Amino acid sequence: MRTVAVVGTGLIGTSAALALTGRGVAVYLEDADPDAARTAASLGAGTTEAPDGPVDLAIIAVPPALVGKVLADCQRRGLARSYTDVASVKAGPRAEVAALGCDTTHYIGGHPMAGRERSGPLAARADIFEGRPWVLTPTPDTGTEALNAALELVALCGGVPIVMDAAAHDRAVALVSHAPQLLSSIIAARLEQADETAVRLCGQGVRDVTRIAASDPLLWGDILSANAAAVADILQEVAADLGSTVTALRALQAADEGERRAGAAGIEAVMRRGNTGQARIPGKHGAPPTRYETVTVVLGDQPGELGRLFGEVGQLGVNIEDVTIEHSTGQQVGHVHLDVAASAVRPLVGGLRDRGWALRD
Ligand SMILES: NC(=O)c1ccc[n+]([C@@H]2O[C@H](COP(=O)([O-])OP(=O)(O)OC[C@H]3O[C@@H](n4cnc5c(N)ncnc54)[C@H](O)[C@@H]3O)[C@@H](O)[C@H]2O)c1
Repeated sequence: MRTVAVVGTGLIGTSAALALTGRGVAVYLEDADPDAARTAASLGAGTTEAPDGPVDLAIIAVPPALVGKVLADCQRRGLARSYTDVASVKAGPRAEVAALGCDTTHYIGGHPMAGRERSGPLAARADIFEGRPWVLTPTPDTGTEALNAALELVALCGGVPIVMDAAAHDRAVALVSHAPQLLSSIIAARLEQADETAVRLCGQGVRDVTRIAASDPLLWGDILSANAAAVADILQEVAADLGSTVTALRALQAADEGERRAGAAGIEAVMRRGNTGQARIPGKHGAPPTRYETVTVVLGDQPGELGRLFGEVGQLGVNIEDVTIEHSTGQQVGHVHLDVAASAVRPLVGGLRDRGWALRD
């Protein structure tokens, strides 16, 4: 692939353009907002000049509701030989592309599963797609040329191609992204009116569950309205689980022992189902989940402490598989949880203690 047009030079379009220019592809930038295209060009993402003739691939990187309209316009102008888009939902844009009579042989839907909470070209980064899944949604109409162009785009951006049906994609993202976003927001909303003393007790659990509740409501309004039916289906199942969990919790207070036992069994069942689901989340590099052991180090809140710790773990020959940091409310220390292979625990604990680190049991 030698020439690409990016239509919509926001976060995703400019990130793809930066990745492509970095690989020697000539990129032509367009945006309804000329400032956005100029900004992208000034970042080294390509040129705002029009290409001489049709480019190899045009990437439509505009909001989902505009994909059909923009694709139809680009095809009318003969902008490219193949077209793809990057919208976070796939069934709606596909229906619109068909309704507008676009050429579907030279178009393939796509969704890079990467992003940031910020938008616009200034938030773009060439490496955001590295190692991330990039879903492609071909239909029986899709020609080989469009499929190959999209696969080459994904490879040039460092993504991992995953071919899926558009409706299956939308159900999948409802399950793994859209419904979790709303559930995180709903839990965080409980804190809105909570007593200050209660909020001060927030620990790592509530921080983990509510991290994405800080997302932009307007951006998410668009995403959720484009996938409303699939998200509503998941939340309806969640509501059923919540209903039976509430019943089980109330039963724990019942006078009758049989009812109390049924309540306890209900709670245990939902917790066990959660364990099973959580264990299915892929581990590092998409590998099957691996069980690591956690070593917790108590760290003073001083510049360079984290770097010194990582350096010394490296000197002990131990690979850190994952790391989380827990901040203690109102204290000048943090707990650093280092996930390591089981065989590394003994040398790591011994080595760190010898070097004066405080470890939590
Ligand atoms: N933000 C994410 O995390 C993320 C992740 C994956 C996919 N996506 C998808 O990528 C697409 C772009 O999202 P973004 O986050 O880059 O948004 P953004 O707001 O940063 O950029 C969108 C750009 O499209 C331009 N635009 C709007 N209408 C246009 C038109 N008719 N013609 C040309 N340009 C037009 C806007 O001016 C803007 O610069 C969306 O479809 C979104 O669903 C976003």
